Amino acid sequence: MWPPRRGCVLRWLGQRICRRTTFLFALFWFGFWVFLNGLVFVHRTIFSDFCTDDKSKQVLQRVCEDYRQGVLTGDLCEDLCVARQVAYKRCLYYENGKKVIEAEWRGVPVVLKSKLENFSSYESFSLLEYQDAPELSPMDIVFYATLEIKNSLGLEVRNASVPRLWSQRLRERGRPYSRAELASLWSLLQQEEYTFFKVLQDLSRHVVKVLGSCGHFYAVEYLIAGHAWDQNLFSLEDLGGPRGPGADAPPSPGRGGVTERDMVHRIALSFLHMVRHFENDFSHRLHLCDIKPENFAIRQDLTVVAIDVDMAFFEPKMRDILEQNCTSDDDCNFFDCISKCDTNKNKCGSRRINSNLQVICDKIFRHWFSPTLLGARAGLPLQVALQRAVQDCAETAGGEDAEFNQAIQHRLLSLLTQLLQDSPGQRTGQGDTEGRYHAALNL
Ligand SMILES: Nc1ncnc2c1ncn2[C@@H]1O[C@H](COP(=O)(O)OP(=O)(O)OP(=O)(O)O)[C@@H](O)[C@H]1O
Ligand SMILES: *[C@@H]1O[C@H](CO)[C@@H](O)[C@H](O)[C@H]1NC(C)=O
Ligand SMILES: *[C@@H]1O[C@H](CO)[C@@H](O)[C@H](O)[C@H]1NC(C)=O
Ligand SMILES: *[C@@H]1O[C@H](CO)[C@@H](O)[C@H](O)[C@H]1NC(C)=O
Repeated sequence: MWPPRRGCVLRWLGQRICRRTTFLFALFWFGFWVFLNGLVFVHRTIFSDFCTDDKSKQVLQRVCEDYRQGVLTGDLCEDLCVARQVAYKRCLYYENGKKVIEAEWRGVPVVLKSKLENFSSYESFSLLEYQDAPELSPMDIVFYATLEIKNSLGLEVRNASVPRLWSQRLRERGRPYSRAELASLWSLLQQEEYTFFKVLQDLSRHVVKVLGSCGHFYAVEYLIAGHAWDQNLFSLEDLGGPRGPGADAPPSPGRGGVTERDMVHRIALSFLHMVRHFENDFSHRLHLCDIKPENFAIRQDLTVVAIDVDMAFFEPKMRDILEQNCTSDDDCNFFDCISKCDTNKNKCGSRRINSNLQVICDKIFRHWFSPTLLGARAGLPLQVALQRAVQDCAETAGGEDAEFNQAIQHRLLSLLTQLLQDSPGQRTGQGDTEGRYHAALNL
């Protein structure tokens, strides 16, 4: 990071010049650092203004008012508004109306989310506008929900196989839906993120669990989110120990004499399982186009979970996004998803040429497994082999080369497994259960 020697390239000019250049460089870097920090500070103060406890509580109060008036409903409402079983903790995020709140629901830490703070800001369900509309049957709801899902995920949903698990539940209901139920469901379906989580709920452990909802707010499990500035990307100190009364911590695989290094290896393994899972286990490949520590989180059992899916696309939508007009390859980069420019047609290829694995190697694994960061342990042969594998993985696009992708994935997998087995006090066989986990999303 710090380049103090840069000014010394022209060493023959004399020590004095060199020193002065170094000094100026240091001054420049310091100034730059102060400037950056100032920017971050200003940004924080502007936005924290909106993310206050007062405002957040007001937002939740408005949800409850609407609930009492019968405008909205959900399985969380009773606990939130009447039984007072949802304890507000703090505001995590607020921008452009998107509200993310930490709370405790019956002792379990949860995160409450909504894309817009007010229920009235969501488009209303148009069929509800007709006062004398006949009562909608569950089958109609399934139909509309399916259209909405198709729209937001960019999937061609075949009639015979709508997201089955979900629609099954809707269909099994005997009684018709109330207005509040329909309006609430509709507001949730307008949040692409909710739709995404909900559809993949029972199919993937690498997607955050939705625990309940009230109106336009839905509760997801509280996880340990990643941070670029954290030494291990995920705060490992936050692991372990029940988070509140009644929260039964799952049996902890990675504690009790197990080093931080081991935990990092386990998390890396989970990343690899996630990559394989997103590649193979759905009827369409899932592309992650914004890969950074902040968009992932870990559970207590060290499974990696995608928490920000704004930039996650199934293959059909990915192709639509990539197919752009272009004059050079530079025009074909969509965040972390890139394709090549066909200069004859001036069109970007619809196939992505890099892969989730490559970007994860580049943006996550490199942080953990780079020669400079390892210091004393760099000498261990397995560590060195791992560093080299990560390097290869990060530097080869490999999206089109399935064989290379397989090989590098396998190499990383076996190195990490070996490293874990070699470490003292290790229970064997863990982490591999996930490999056998298979889910078929038949959309
Ligand atoms: N399940 C969770 N557990 C703990 N923290 C969470 C959870 N979900 C979100 N967060 C925190 O809330 C913040 C905002 O959430 P989220 O990523 O959904 O917002 P966003 O609008 O998608 O953010 P971005 O601007 O990065 O796209 C995240 O940075 C994360 O730290
Ligand atoms: C939400 O509703 C409140 C009160 O009705 C209002 O003050 C606020 O401006 C609304 N926010 C948005 C984003 O519409
Ligand atoms: C879907 O299939 C059902 C019967 O299986 C049929 O009644 C309905 O019209 C079909 N819907 C569409 C949009 O094709
Ligand atoms: C892309 O190029 C085609 C012709 O080559 C043109 O008709 C079309 O409008 C362009 N699209 C965009 C988004 O610029």
